[in-house]
Amino acid sequence: MRVNGHGMRTIWDTDGVVEIIDQRFLPHELKIIPLETLEDARAAIADMKVRGAPCIGATAMYGMAVAMRNDPSDASLAQAQETLNGSRPTAVNLEWATRECVEAVSDISASKRADILFKMARKNCDDDADMCSNIGDYGKTLLDEIAKYKGGDVINILTHCNAGWVATVDWGTAISPIYKAFNAGMNVHVWVDETRPRSQGARLTAWELEQHGVPYTVITDNSGGHLMQHGLVDICFVGTDRTTATGDVCNKIGTYLKALAAFDNDVPFYVCAPSNSIDWDMQDGLKEIPIEVRSGEQEVGWITGRDEDGIIRRVTTMPDPKKTRNDAFDVTPRKYITGLITERGIANASRAGLLQLFPEKA
Ligand code: MRU
Repeated sequence: MRVNGHGMRTIWDTDGVVEIIDQRFLPHELKIIPLETLEDARAAIADMKVRGAPCIGATAMYGMAVAMRNDPSDASLAQAQETLNGSRPTAVNLEWATRECVEAVSDISASKRADILFKMARKNCDDDADMCSNIGDYGKTLLDEIAKYKGGDVINILTHCNAGWVATVDWGTAISPIYKAFNAGMNVHVWVDETRPRSQGARLTAWELEQHGVPYTVITDNSGGHLMQHGLVDICFVGTDRTTATGDVCNKIGTYLKALAAFDNDVPFYVCAPSNSIDWDMQDGLKEIPIEVRSGEQEVGWITGRDEDGIIRRVTTMPDPKKTRNDAFDVTPRKYITGLITERGIANASRAGLLQLFPEKA
């Protein structure tokens, strides 16, 4: 997608030099940093220099490639997988990516491993962009239907967190249908949930929509239900970090509350779910999905932003920033989900629905 008018992805390599956008500095600074070691990749994921399930998966693949370049032994391969898998627990794309790498090279001689994994990491980036583009095309068909009854009136879409292109390699998942619709000249507007505590909506979704020229308004995390009650939301699109084989969805904390409000107000609630974020081994999202708990003091107790003089400051609004709790994800049970938009089409949020699109997983 576009940054200052130029095409860009979140992660890439030039002749083996891997680089990422360090998302912690957006929207105030576009900072590019290299990933030279396994530890660089681990820290990039754990410290949320990269985030968003597909982008985490892409970074993990490059992390495996870099690790093999520095030490291609069997011990190093196992160590790289364990280290990366331990960097963040919730997004299944991470385990998927490292498993793909281990399966691809464990029977291959050490000297060839890095080369194979770099090729895989590049192909994964292209495949990820294609999957997200397909999700955008399928999601746009839902916006086309809404456009039929709205005439030329604006279509209001609500999204939570950032499931746009900076959460993937390119296009995004939940924002991809919006880009497709906007590019086709449709009259769309996005309600962007601020998404405390790390404000991925206010910082990242707003930034990428601004870069692309898509109309948007940032709202507090408490506003969505009210807007739905007043007919101001036509459809919700959100992302997923892990979707069970039965259609439960784990996504950024607060997604569940939006799904409840949408259900109560008959607003369609769609989850944009690339197949590498589906965990075919899990059945019950609430019981089985590991939920990341991050530092409450660091992320809830303190807020970072730019002041009126352009200086980045960290401030607290609380009497005691230590008295906080910070669960980073929640689970939306399938009964609240209108559909799952995958790269192969739109499925009911159920085992049968998913298996119709992915029969090879039966
Ligand atoms: O903690 P984050 O910023 O990694 O959480 C991101 C989300 O919850 C996204 O909605 C999800 O990863 C889908 S990204 C296409």
